[in-house]
Amino acid sequence: TSAASPTLDPTPDLADSTLVRAARRQPVPHTPVWFMRQAGRSLPEYREVRKDVAMLTSCRTPELVTEITLQPVRRHGVDAAIFFSDIVVPLQAVGVDVDIVAGTGPVIAEPIRTRADLDRLPELTPEHVPDITESVRLLTAELGGTPLIGFAGAPFTLASYLVEGGPSKNHERTKALMHGDPQLWSDLCARLAQISGAFLRVQAQAGASAVQLFDSWAGHLSRADYLRHVEPHSRSVLEGVADLGIPRIHFGVGTGELLPAMADAGADVIGVDYRVSLTDAVERTGGRYAVQGNLDPALLFAPWSALEARVREIVEEGRNAPGHIFNLGHGVLPDTDPTVLTRVVELVHEISAR
Ligand code: CP3
Repeated sequence: TSAASPTLDPTPDLADSTLVRAARRQPVPHTPVWFMRQAGRSLPEYREVRKDVAMLTSCRTPELVTEITLQPVRRHGVDAAIFFSDIVVPLQAVGVDVDIVAGTGPVIAEPIRTRADLDRLPELTPEHVPDITESVRLLTAELGGTPLIGFAGAPFTLASYLVEGGPSKNHERTKALMHGDPQLWSDLCARLAQISGAFLRVQAQAGASAVQLFDSWAGHLSRADYLRHVEPHSRSVLEGVADLGIPRIHFGVGTGELLPAMADAGADVIGVDYRVSLTDAVERTGGRYAVQGNLDPALLFAPWSALEARVREIVEEGRNAPGHIFNLGHGVLPDTDPTVLTRVVELVHEISAR
C-alpha cells in the first residue's frame, strides 16, 4: 500500500485477480473458476475437521473457518475462496434460535409470522459478529493473491427459512404472508436486507474482494411476485454495498425468467444455473453483465469424456460473454469425487488460457 518500499510490501493487488477482472468485464489470462460449496462434505479433510464440531459452531470459530475455507483452495487450485459460513449465521448472531441439522438444513425454533415476531428481530451491527471480522482477517492474510468472496442470503431466501421454520419445498407459509399481509412481508424483508447488507459490509471491510448474494429459492417465484415483493429488498442490499467498490454477484436457482430483473437489481455478475445456457443468459441480460456458471453439479458424476465435452462448451460460451467466471449451476453435491473437481479446474485453466 506504500510506494516507499514496494519490494517489501507483499500485499498483492487483488483488483488484478482473474475473479475481480472477469467480474468487471476486463480481459483475463484465463477463465477464473471456483465452485459453490467447494468447502464441505466432498472433502475428506473437511469431514475430519468437522467430526466433533456442530456446523454453526464451526462457522463461528475463526481458526476453523480459516482452515475449512483454505482446504479447497489448496487442493483444487481454484481462483477464489468462498468464506466458510452459512446464510443463517447473521440471523443467529442477532439472536435467532437456529440450528443446522445435517441432511436437512437450517431449522428455526420460533418462526417469524406476526408483527410481534418481527419486532423481536434486531438489526445487525458489527458488534454482533466480531468473529466474522477476525475470520476474514485471518483468511485474507493466508490467502495472499487469491481473492475471498464474502456472501449473504438474500431477503426472500432468508425469509423463507424464518417464516417456514425450516427448509420448504413449496414455500406456502412464506407466499401466504407475502400476499396476505404485504406490509408485514415488506417490513420483514427490509429488516433482512439490513441484516444481509451489514453482514456483507463486515466481510468487505475486513478484506473480502467480492460479495455474492444468494437468493437460492427465488426461482420459486413468478416474475411479477419477484418484481413486486422481493426485488426492491435485494436491490437495497446490493445498492447498499455499491460504495465498497467490489464486484457483486447475484445468484439463484431456477431463475431463468428472473435473470434480467436479478441482474438489474444491482449486480456486476449474474449467477446462472444449468437450466439456462450462458449464451441465453447473456442475451437475456442485454450483454451488460458478466456471467457465472453453469455446469450441472450432477455431471461431475458422468464419465470424464462427457464431462470434459460439457466443460469445453461452457468455456466456449463464456468467451462470448462480457465476462465469465466458471462455476457450477449450484453447490457441489456431498458425494462428488473431489479429484474430478481438481481436474475440472485444470481443464478450464488449460483451455481458456490466452
Ligand atoms: O463452500 C461454500 O460454498 C461456502 C459455504 C456455504 C455454506 N452454506 C456451508 C454449508 C455457503 C455459501 C452456504 C450458503 C447457504 N446455506 C445457502 C445458499 C447457497 C445454496 O446452496 O443455495 C443456503 C440455502 C443455505 C442453507 C443451508 N445450510 C442448507 C440448505 C444446508 C444443507 C443441509 C444439508 O446437510 O444438506 C446447510 C448446511 C451447510 N452449509 C453445509 C455446508 C458445508 C453442510 C453442513 C455439513 O457439513 O454437515
